[in-house]
Amino acid sequence: MSDFKPALSFVLPDQTTLLAELDGLAVRSDAVARGLAAIKSGFFTHPDGRTDELGDVSLFHSQLALLAHLAHIAPQGLSIEIGFGMGSSTAIILGVRALKGPDFQHLAFDPYGLPDNRGTIVQNYLETEFGDAFKRIYKRSEIGLAQLFDNAGAGSVGLIFIDGSHTFENVIVDFFWADALCCVGGYIIFDDADYPAIETAINYIEKNRPNYQIHRSAAVNTTILFKTADYEIPWYAFAPFEVAERKDWDKKTSLSLSTACVLWPRTSGLNSCHHKVFCR
Ligand SMILES: C[S@@+](CC[C@H](N)C(=O)[O-])C[C@H]1O[C@@H](n2cnc3c(N)ncnc32)[C@H](O)[C@@H]1O
Repeated sequence: MSDFKPALSFVLPDQTTLLAELDGLAVRSDAVARGLAAIKSGFFTHPDGRTDELGDVSLFHSQLALLAHLAHIAPQGLSIEIGFGMGSSTAIILGVRALKGPDFQHLAFDPYGLPDNRGTIVQNYLETEFGDAFKRIYKRSEIGLAQLFDNAGAGSVGLIFIDGSHTFENVIVDFFWADALCCVGGYIIFDDADYPAIETAINYIEKNRPNYQIHRSAAVNTTILFKTADYEIPWYAFAPFEVAERKDWDKKTSLSLSTACVLWPRTSGLNSCHHKVFCR
């Protein structure tokens, strides 16, 4: 592994630049503007006036800015995400992809949906706005991604956002298929990367997949993998990796009071969302 030579590298702009880019994109895209307004106000507003409450399923401003940037530079027309939730990430990715031209498609895998039909109004809006370029696929990612690989093939996707089930085993399975689908020069993004299961999955990747350039904390609680080259892991290979010595939703960093206040509702919400999924 030590003599592995990456073919490409990726430099992430600073956060001020990313936030300014997002503001610029919001002026040009109705979906980006609505997604951004939703995470600021806590409500997505449909053009017909209906509203959908994000509640505890929300992303941070810096995460939207990062997603917008990566959606803009992703090298393939096909992008995917795992976990539709309230569709904030979907709105941003679709809005940015559409600005680049007509040859794009975005697939969101999520079989469950949220309580009280939350997310439905956002989904209706995105279906109307983007037509066939957007599909929500009502399958668990562990099934749906394998089927997509069978149909679309290796290296067919330029951007993959992983924000579905948050167990270690699901995140590793999502990574397994994301890696198979991601083209060289493409991006795999992990939400909730500071939680132990996701952090540990990323630690595994860091030690065992030299073909990824890893940007930890690229935005709040978010890690990016940039695929620098193809790499076939030897069938016997295993490099030891660090396992986070924390449980469940214990976060990596000690939080300032103000950050903790912002994070807490989302943390508890994800926990209940996660619990709901696994009680089925
Ligand atoms: C935190 S939410 C996603 C939030 C979304 N990124 C947004 O911007 O609103 C997680 C979602 O993952 C979905 N989910 C859970 N397990 C899944 C699985 N195995 N495959 C696909 N989606 C899953 C849940 O139904 C839930 O809607």
